[in-house]
Amino acid sequence: MRVSKKDTEKKIEALLRELTLEEKSRMIHASEFFRSGDVPRLGIPKITTSDGPMGVRNDFHPADWHPVGTSADAVSYLPCNTAIASTWNRELARMSGEVLGREARGRGKDMILAPGINIKRNPLCGRNFEYMSEDPYLIAEMVVPLIEGIQENDVSACVKHFACNAQEWERLWVNVELDERTLREIYLPGFEAAVKRAKTKALMGSYNLVRGEHGSQSKFLLTDILRKEWKYDGLVVSDWGAVHDTKAAAESGLDLEMSVFPNFDDYYLGKPVIEAVKKGEIKEEDLDKKVRNILRFMLRVRMIEIELTEKKNGRTAAKAVPVEDRDPGYYNGSAMHYFAKQTAREAVVMLKNEKKRLPIKPSMTKRLLVIGNNADRKQSNGGGSGEIKALYEVTPLMGLTREYGGNTEVRYTPGYYVPKKTKEDTSWQEDSVSAEIMSDPSVRDKRKVAAEEKKRIKEYREEAVRLAKEYEEVVIVGGLDHNYDTEGMDRKDLKLPYAQDELINAVLAVNPRAVVVMFAGSPVDMTAWSDKAQAILWMAYNGMEGGTALAEVISGTVNPSGKLPESLPSDFKKTSAAVFGDYPGRKLTAAEKKKMNATMTQTFKDGVFVGYRFYEKFDVPVQYEFGYGLSYTEYKYSGMTVEKAKGKDALFTVSIKVKNTGHVAGKEAVQLYVGEKAVSEANPVKELKGFDKAELAPGEEKTVKFMLTAKDFSHFDNETNTWQQMKGKMVIYIGASSRDIRAKKEVTLK
Ligand code: BGC
Repeated sequence: MRVSKKDTEKKIEALLRELTLEEKSRMIHASEFFRSGDVPRLGIPKITTSDGPMGVRNDFHPADWHPVGTSADAVSYLPCNTAIASTWNRELARMSGEVLGREARGRGKDMILAPGINIKRNPLCGRNFEYMSEDPYLIAEMVVPLIEGIQENDVSACVKHFACNAQEWERLWVNVELDERTLREIYLPGFEAAVKRAKTKALMGSYNLVRGEHGSQSKFLLTDILRKEWKYDGLVVSDWGAVHDTKAAAESGLDLEMSVFPNFDDYYLGKPVIEAVKKGEIKEEDLDKKVRNILRFMLRVRMIEIELTEKKNGRTAAKAVPVEDRDPGYYNGSAMHYFAKQTAREAVVMLKNEKKRLPIKPSMTKRLLVIGNNADRKQSNGGGSGEIKALYEVTPLMGLTREYGGNTEVRYTPGYYVPKKTKEDTSWQEDSVSAEIMSDPSVRDKRKVAAEEKKRIKEYREEAVRLAKEYEEVVIVGGLDHNYDTEGMDRKDLKLPYAQDELINAVLAVNPRAVVVMFAGSPVDMTAWSDKAQAILWMAYNGMEGGTALAEVISGTVNPSGKLPESLPSDFKKTSAAVFGDYPGRKLTAAEKKKMNATMTQTFKDGVFVGYRFYEKFDVPVQYEFGYGLSYTEYKYSGMTVEKAKGKDALFTVSIKVKNTGHVAGKEAVQLYVGEKAVSEANPVKELKGFDKAELAPGEEKTVKFMLTAKDFSHFDNETNTWQQMKGKMVIYIGASSRDIRAKKEVTLK
C-alpha cells in the first residue's frame, strides 16, 4: 500500500513530538563506531552503517577498533569504483550496486558508505582507487545506476565525500578555494545526479573545508546547495571525525555526527548540543530538522513504520514499529560472484599490443613464467576504510594457473621485494584523525632500506631475470598496492615503488616479449620501459574475480573492452594540480587562521581544466589519454548523422554506425564529445557528453544513438551565477577515445 507524502510527514511530526531533547540528541550522533543512537522507549532503532565501497566491510566492536574476527563477515569483494568506471557499462554499475546493496542488507546494515565519487583531480591522491574518474559526466552516468542498484534492497547508499575532496594530505585541515563555475561544472555534477536522478537516501560530508567551512558542517554546501537548491530531504552523515563545532553542525544541513573515538556522549551533537539548546544558544528546531530527516530515512529503507493511536484526551500518540517484511538481503551467493566477474572482465584495459603479442593461447603454451609481487598478492584487505574481508580473491597467479590448466607449467617468482609490515595496525582509523604526520608521504617513502632488504631486492630481481631467459612466455604483474593506494596518505610522485622500473627493464632486456600488467588505482609513470614492452595491460583493484578476468584477457577467452576513466600522465609536475594548483596547499595566513579552522589552503586554480580538459587545452602529452583502450578486434565508425531533435530540452539526436571488422566478438565504448569550433580561452577543447557500449559479433554493425540537450552545450557563468548556453559554431565529435576521434560534425547554435 502506498502512503502519501503528506501522511508520512504527519506521522514523522507525531513521532517527533514524543521525543525529549536528550532523545533527539541521541539520534543525531553515534552510539557506536558504525551506529547512531536509539530510543527504545519509542521503538526507534539504531541506524547501522558499514563501509564501502568495494563490499561490506568486516564488523568491529562497538567502541574499539579491533575487528570482531568471526568468519561470518566475509563477503563478496567487488571491483573498485575506478574499475567499475573503466567498464563504461552502466548495466555493470547497476549490477555492482545490486550486489553491494543486497549484501549490506544480508549483513544487517541499513546504509552502505558508498560509492565514493570525488573527482580524480590529483593523481597522487591516496584514495583515487575509491573514486571513479576525472570526468563529471562519466561519474554521473555510472553513479546513478550504481546507487539505484544498491537501493533496490531496503538499504541506502551513502554517496561520499561531499565535496571537493581531492587529497589525503592534511585531509581534515585543508581548505579548498575554487570559483563557482569550477564547482558547478566539475565537482558537483556527480553528487547532483546522485541526489536528483538516483535519489540517494544518504550522503556523507567531507573532511576538507570548502571556502572556509568543513564539508561535514558546511552551511554553503549542505544547507544552501544540497537542502535548498537541490531540495534534498535525505540523510546527511558526517565523515568520521569531520565535525568540529556544535553550533555550525547544529545549524547546517548535517543530520548525523559520526566519529572514530569511543566517547560518544561527548560528541559535538551529544552533551554539548543539549547544553547549548538549554542555554538558548541553539534552537531546538534545528535538531528537529535532523530528526525528521533521520525518521524519514528509517521509513525509506523500511527499518520502521510509524503507528499512531488516538488518545482519549484528543492527543495522537506515535511509536515506531519494525517492518515485518523488510528485505532480509543475502550475501555470498554464486550469482554475486558471477556479477563481480562480469564487471572485472570489462574493467581490464589493454594499453598496448604491438605485433599482436597478446593473446597468449593456452594450447600453444607449455610453460609460463609469472613475475611480480602483485601477481600473488591479495589486495582486498587494504587501503583504509575501503578494506574488505573477501570470501575469496583470485589473484592473477591463481587466475593464470587455472586458465592455462594442467598442461601448462606455470612458474612464479616475486621479482620485486615488498617489505613486510611489522605489526597489524588496528588503530589507524583513530590515528588518521588525530595524528598530523599521517598524510605526509615522506614518512613512508623516506624509510631507510636496511642492508638485508637491499640484498633481497637484488636476489629477487636476479632470479626473475635468470628465469625470464629460460621461459618463452613471461607475464610481469606490478604496479601499486594498498601501501600506496591508501586512505590517509598521498603518493610522493608517479614513480613505481619497489624498484620495479629496474626489474621490468632487466626482464625486457633478456625477454623482449614479456607482457607487463599494471595494477593501480591511479596513474603511474611507465615511461622507463613502455617503449620497449610489446604489450601492456592496465587494471584497477578488480575484485574477487580480478585474477580470473585478467587471465581470461591474457589467454584471449575475453576480448578486452575497458577504457581509461582518467588520463595517465607520466609526471605529476605536468598535471593541472601541479602546474596551476599549489598542491599540497599553502600555509594559512594569520588573518585566515582567525576565520577558519584549517592549517592550509589549496586553491583549485586549474579551474575546469582538470584531467583531459587540461591536457588538451595546454597541449600536454600524456602516456595514454582519457577514454583510451584497445581490443583484439577492430571497429570501423561510419555514417555519422546529426538531426534536430523534437522535445522540450532536446537539441539534437546523433547517430553513428559502428562495425566490428575483425574476427572476434567484442564490445566498444563509443564516446561523444562536444566543443566550440573556435575554442574560447575560457572553455575546454571538448567535453564528454555521451557514451554507449556496443556489443558486436565479428562482421556485425550497429547504430549507436545519442541525445544532446541544451545543458550539454552550456557553461556556468560566474557573473550571472546561471547556466548559459554557448552560441555559434559547435563541433560534435565521436571517438574511440578523447583523442582518437573517428567522426565529427558541425552545428550552429542560436
Ligand atoms: C572515511 C570514510 C569512511 C569512514 C568510516 C573515514 O575515515 O573517510 O570514507 O566511510 O571513515 O570508516
